[in-house]
Amino acid sequence: MSTTIGAAAPAAAPTEAAVLSASKVTMRFGGLLAVNAIDFAVADRQIAGLIGPNGAGKTTFFNCLTGLYKPTSGEIRLHGRVLSSKPHLVTRAGVARTFQNIRLFATMTAEENVLVARHSRTTAGVFAAIGHGPRYHREERESRERARELLSFVGLSRVSGELARNLNYGDQRRLEIARALATEPSVLLLDEPTAGMNPQETRAAADLVRAIRDRGVAIVVIEHDIRFIFNLCDVVTVLARGEVLSRGVPSVVQADPRVIEAYLGGAADPPGAPGAAVSDGAGGGGR
Ligand SMILES: Nc1ncnc2c1ncn2[C@@H]1O[C@H](COP(=O)(O)OP(=O)(O)OP(=O)(O)O)[C@@H](O)[C@H]1O
Ligand SMILES: [Mg+2]
Repeated sequence: MSTTIGAAAPAAAPTEAAVLSASKVTMRFGGLLAVNAIDFAVADRQIAGLIGPNGAGKTTFFNCLTGLYKPTSGEIRLHGRVLSSKPHLVTRAGVARTFQNIRLFATMTAEENVLVARHSRTTAGVFAAIGHGPRYHREERESRERARELLSFVGLSRVSGELARNLNYGDQRRLEIARALATEPSVLLLDEPTAGMNPQETRAAADLVRAIRDRGVAIVVIEHDIRFIFNLCDVVTVLARGEVLSRGVPSVVQADPRVIEAYLGGAADPPGAPGAAVSDGAGGGGR
């Protein structure tokens, strides 16, 4: 479905062409309706943005998509097949993610962090590993080569032997992406990938996301930096209070009065316009 890249058709209701789709996904925490009947789809090689004020339900929705939460109701499909709500099966099926709060193995090296993630893709199994049979050795060698290739791809070759905890913030975010890619996903979900980055790092992150898309991976990205989102994404979905407030190509969403209202309380400048307030209190907290 690469013909629809950047086309006017927004990723709305699930379609057969969708890589990942959600149908009426709802997540309740006691009396709180965090995500309310959300329909969503991302197509092959599409970059889909997800924005919305703090507490809008963006991360909760990601947690539903990746099996971390079992939705109260609704259905999630990958390539048209219903997805399990068990994280390891979701990963194995081809959905990878990064976290709003970076989750790396702090006392492992960058390369080891990527290698650990490879294990969802290797097949040698426990007995081969114990016996260190030929298949184990071949897969181990291939995994190391792939880990190095991924570290080079995200620009981290120079720190592959450093402990994750010693990397600067931007490098830790890149390492999380390399680790997610090590599971060979068909869709990658990024939760605030530029939080804490300076403008130069943010531009590099946008280039990296495009390069990942060019490798044939569909992308869903949450960000508070809406300039980043509107420059990068083919389609944008705006959530507010657990519901879809607006959806479409960036130019349409940017001009939607409901979006302007949600972000700026009705001020004249649309989000992303020069001088407009582009953050509603970015990131940091949350899951
Ligand atoms: N495990 C949980 N238990 C109870 N309430 C939760 C849980 N996870 C999220 N919530 C609540 O659900 C709502 C949506 O939270 P969520 O973290 O999904 O928002 P968000 O859009 O990602 O916000 P932010 O931009 O601040 O990261 C919030 O009111 C939050 O407090
Ligand atoms: Mg969040």
